[in-house]
Amino acid sequence: MALSKHSHNDAGTGVHWCDALRCPRCGGALRAEDELHCDACPATYPIDRGVPRFVPSDNYAEGFGYQWNQHRLTQLDSHSGLPISRERLFRSSGWTAEELHGRRVLECGSGAGRFTEVLCETGAEVTSFDISSAVHANAASNGRFPNLRLVQASIYEMPFPEESFDYLLCFGVIQHTPDVERTFKTLFRYLRPGGRFCVDVYAAMVAYTHPRHLLRPITRRVPPATLYSFVRKAVPRLLPLSTALHSVPKAGPYLARLVPVANLSYLDIKDPRMQRNWSVLDTFDWLAPRYESPQTRRRLRRWTTELGLSEVSIERHRGLYVVRGVK
Ligand SMILES: C[S@@+](CC[C@H](N)C(=O)[O-])C[C@H]1O[C@@H](n2cnc3c(N)ncnc32)[C@H](O)[C@@H]1O
Repeated sequence: MALSKHSHNDAGTGVHWCDALRCPRCGGALRAEDELHCDACPATYPIDRGVPRFVPSDNYAEGFGYQWNQHRLTQLDSHSGLPISRERLFRSSGWTAEELHGRRVLECGSGAGRFTEVLCETGAEVTSFDISSAVHANAASNGRFPNLRLVQASIYEMPFPEESFDYLLCFGVIQHTPDVERTFKTLFRYLRPGGRFCVDVYAAMVAYTHPRHLLRPITRRVPPATLYSFVRKAVPRLLPLSTALHSVPKAGPYLARLVPVANLSYLDIKDPRMQRNWSVLDTFDWLAPRYESPQTRRRLRRWTTELGLSEVSIERHRGLYVVRGVK
């Protein structure tokens, strides 16, 4: 639910949901007027189109903001008519919709909200945030859910009380932050002891062998709108070539990697227009990020040990490590 002068009461309770927010600078309580005011320090935070903002509007994730506002609906299950996000969330986490119902779930780096939608549908109390203007795409799509609290914030300065969530989800984010170890370790401060987590990260071995890494040092410096227009033109030419290489027996997936285009043939998308659209989105997502640091299993294991996390499993899935367990 986005915050507005008229809609910021939690149903029937007379409590503003922003009462659950904390000043990321000093931890003080926040009061909602036209802006959020900290009761304990002079900080104020704007409310931009109903979404409280705790970061400068121009930050390193500008490309993500651009991408998710161009592709607000592309990956939403309610738009594609396919359960792709739903299945990925439950398969990766091992959680069920029933166990999430009524639980406090924190989603970090929510992008356009493909997983926000799935979480909200479980009846969980969902708090989602992203550092970029993607939050406005998410608000437009998922603002209808009364169980969603959405803010624009950074993992490094979250506006929430520590240890206040039962579940923590972070997909596709931490490799795109400037200090992956710090990001990973910061996340867990907000999960209560005994809370469950699921975080995925690009796997170092797979990702380093990909030729897109030769392009990124250049493409990440190109303004998002220019790069996006280039990708939109290139994908319809490169995708058929990639698909043809994919169909070569055995060596296909390796050969297809020589063509720097995201080929989502492993997903059950039949409509060619939809395939192209997903490909444009994912190809841009490969080439635009300012930061990208894939991680090794050994490093992830060490961090979970240093944090004292339990029941930890680290599974490899399509170029990702999925890390899950209990705090
Ligand atoms: C590849 S997208 C993934 C979005 C979404 N989780 C999904 O899987 O569709 C990565 C997201 O992480 C966000 N992000 C990057 N650094 C962040 C930070 N420090 N705090 C919060 N979000 C961040 C970006 O803005 C971007 O929307």
